[in-house]
Amino acid sequence: MAIESSSTQAIPEVGDTPRHVAIIMDGNGRWAKRRFLPRIAGHKQGLEAVRNVVRACIDCGVQCLTLFAFSSENWRRPKDEVKFLMQLFMYALEEEVSRLHQNGIRLRIIGDRSPFDPKLVRLMVEAEEKTKLNQILTVNIAANYGGRWDILQALNRLSHEQPDKAGRYEESDLAPYLSLHDTPEPDLFIRTGGEKRVSNFLLWQLAYTELYFTDTLWPDFDSPALNAAFESYRQRERRFGRTSEQLQLETPRRDVAGA
Ligand code: IPE
Ligand code: IPE
Ligand code: MG
Repeated sequence: MAIESSSTQAIPEVGDTPRHVAIIMDGNGRWAKRRFLPRIAGHKQGLEAVRNVVRACIDCGVQCLTLFAFSSENWRRPKDEVKFLMQLFMYALEEEVSRLHQNGIRLRIIGDRSPFDPKLVRLMVEAEEKTKLNQILTVNIAANYGGRWDILQALNRLSHEQPDKAGRYEESDLAPYLSLHDTPEPDLFIRTGGEKRVSNFLLWQLAYTELYFTDTLWPDFDSPALNAAFESYRQRERRFGRTSEQLQLETPRRDVAGA
């Protein structure tokens, strides 16, 4: 992450539309339960919501969307559910990547890939390779991702490559090793499904992100629901440590996402 895009090192540009949106897609199981369906039916419907939200982000001029698909703690779920989620992930990569590519979407997968089936890893690499030059929207899928894992893997690589500086590392030393090092920090975090927690998502990157929680279950989250989150975002005063009075002396906010 460049110094100028670190919210603690410099004051980021703020527009009416978030440049980077990060979402915890929660509530699939409850969506299914309410319909007397198995939990996996909720996950299937969740994929449909992903399609809708990706489309809506393009329409709004969002530059980057990061979706939490599987946490490092989700391995604790029943074996059959984990297996289904892996199959769904594989299916999505096989079936969706061409369409994403045609729409100018760059796909990236963040997280620890080491426990995944080699076939799934191959599909991830191929999808990233195929879409790497696309510029309309970057979609990051967090799979076997944990915020603590991210910070630790960065620290381990940094200390390996720069052992002489141990004990004197600064934010700018660590930042380039983090998963989303080349992406502006999320402006807006959304969690669907009613829980008000971060569940080990982007711990480092959420330092100054605006948080939005909604009871809407992920499979029901659509374009109007996304717009409601954006409307809430527009009402926020992003001070980054400064006072309200200081902000009012500055130039009015403009739409950097569309710039
Ligand atoms: C989110 O929905 C999807 C994943 C974690 C993979 P859940 O499966 O957590 O749904 P709830 O929270 O049980 O309703
Ligand atoms: C967070 O949801 C992870 C994903 C959406 C992938 P969980 O349903 O796993 O979170 P907790 O367990 O309720 O905190
Ligand atoms: Mg959940």
